[in-house]
Amino acid sequence: MADIDTDVLIIGTGPAGSACAALLASYGVENMVINRYRWLANTPRAHITNQRTMEVLRDLGREVEDEAYMFATEQDLMGENIFCTSLAGEEIGRMRSWGKHPLSRAEHQLSSPSHMNDLPQTFMEPLLFKTACSRGTQARMSTEYVSHEQDATGVTTTCYDRLTCKEFMVRSKYLVGCDGGNSKVAEHAGLTFEGKMGVGGSMNILFKADLSRYVAHRPSVLYWVVQPGADVGGIGMGLVRMIRPWNEWLIVWGYDINGPEPKVDTAFATKVARDLVGDPELEVDIQSVSTWTVNNMYATKMSNGRVFCMGDATHRHPPSNGLGSNTSIQDAFNLAWKLAYVLRGTAGPKLLDSFNVERAPIAKQIVTRANQSIEEFGPIFKALGLLDSIDPVKMQQNMDARCDDTPEAEEQRRKIRETIAFKVYEFDAHGVEMNQRYRSDAVVTDGQQEPAFEKDAELHYQPTTWPGARLPHVWVFDNHGGKVSTLDLAGKGRFALLTGIGGQGWIEAAKIVGRELGLDVAAHVIGPRQHWQDFTGDWARAREVRDSGIVLVRPDQHVCWRRETATDDPVAELRRVFKSILAV
Ligand code: FDA
Repeated sequence: MADIDTDVLIIGTGPAGSACAALLASYGVENMVINRYRWLANTPRAHITNQRTMEVLRDLGREVEDEAYMFATEQDLMGENIFCTSLAGEEIGRMRSWGKHPLSRAEHQLSSPSHMNDLPQTFMEPLLFKTACSRGTQARMSTEYVSHEQDATGVTTTCYDRLTCKEFMVRSKYLVGCDGGNSKVAEHAGLTFEGKMGVGGSMNILFKADLSRYVAHRPSVLYWVVQPGADVGGIGMGLVRMIRPWNEWLIVWGYDINGPEPKVDTAFATKVARDLVGDPELEVDIQSVSTWTVNNMYATKMSNGRVFCMGDATHRHPPSNGLGSNTSIQDAFNLAWKLAYVLRGTAGPKLLDSFNVERAPIAKQIVTRANQSIEEFGPIFKALGLLDSIDPVKMQQNMDARCDDTPEAEEQRRKIRETIAFKVYEFDAHGVEMNQRYRSDAVVTDGQQEPAFEKDAELHYQPTTWPGARLPHVWVFDNHGGKVSTLDLAGKGRFALLTGIGGQGWIEAAKIVGRELGLDVAAHVIGPRQHWQDFTGDWARAREVRDSGIVLVRPDQHVCWRRETATDDPVAELRRVFKSILAV
């Protein structure tokens, strides 16, 4: 006999769990979230927040998106990614990142109504959690997941209340494990994984110090400090990461995973901070020190029956490319509407299979990318001459050699330039962030070929309305000075259809099929004398169908079907498509 009943029980209030709860609550789904601790993230952790994640926040409400910007460090202050011998010392090179380069910024602006920013997890989690709780989520803190059992009608989860030291049972129709990299839910659900945990060791040193004089003229989130002989393997590269400009910082410093875990006291942490900043007198206020391991593991199966896992529970990787919390929040965007539709009885349970089919390849992709990005520091070290010796004096001489007036030095300078520029795959990989295309039964392609990527798919986003891709963003306008993104016409837990002059038949058909299937479809005609107009012609260029055609969009803003032109029987067509997608 369960003590509590709910439709969806979510384990964990990290970015995945809080986003999942916020979305479900926004869709009117009864849900409960638990966290073993009494509060949310107590250290900044994930921070790079990409445009796709900001679109999820925008879908939760403009007030949610705006509040994120209020607490975030803006994109303009993110991107002078510096490589140096210390912040006070010599700069070796820099790579304009995160949309800082004007060409990259143009691509960002053309792709989305939302902006990339730096929002530490200590701000993101409370924002999502507050949104969830204020919209109906029941939250129980200091409550630990212990185990679960599922049967034909639901899941019974045993929880442990850390305040009363008593166990209690929650009965839910679905269980979502958002319990991070050591997920017990994933383990108990028997999810399968590939890869390895603990492939490297890192320590975080969180501190306060005013570093304006070293950084304000080259604003960045990341400052990479190369100090031969300072640490593991003698290379000694440390990262000084901005938390708040320019007085709160996090140092990430590697340690040898094959040795004992280092004991880091305040004196050691202060020394590391002063060394990397290059100021032996620097006033440093150490806030906290922690260690973590670099992982390289992804789930090949993200669900089992009524149990779903997402976030770090299913993709475990280093912070490179800043994909951690972004992917977690995007996982939630994929699953939440499907749960809502199935719980409402508008879709069959088979729709839920598409979560695994659509998101597991992305888990693999981002884990692989993040780990590859670590390896791509190697060529920079090689170009600097740091791999030719383990003697710090020789290593320093090799680095110094780049300043000589010799053909070898000119070649070394070229290599340093090129290897630093190659880090674009970590620090400005817009395609990795925006190009996610789904292939599953929850999209209907009608045999249309997926368009090939014309540029490097990791670096450049390529808009398309091919079913499975995210709806392209363009601005459309009303007659009163207003404008919205095409993404704003979709989302909010509803299917949306976009058509043009001659597509009126789709609008009528959506009403009929909507009534039949219990669907509320947002239907928009874009064109002259219509509510939304395409004054710039951007929508006509982006939509890849004719005026009378249709682009049908899922609640998570991915296109699920399109047709070139009108048809004689739009009701039959829409019925076929919806029934296929919703598995009814
Ligand atoms: P997350 O780990 O955030 O949350 C898990 C939740 O589950 C927590 O609320 C936890 O309390 C709860 N939980 C776990 N077990 C439970 C149980 N048995 N019962 C109840 N609740 C339970 N990423 C990045 O992009 N850049 C970065 O710089 C960093 N840095 C970083 C530092 C440190 C120290 C860590 C631990 C992690 C990072 N990350 C990171 C990774 C990033 O934080 C991570 O990708 C996201 O937080 C993942 O979000 P999730 O919600 O999936 O898990």
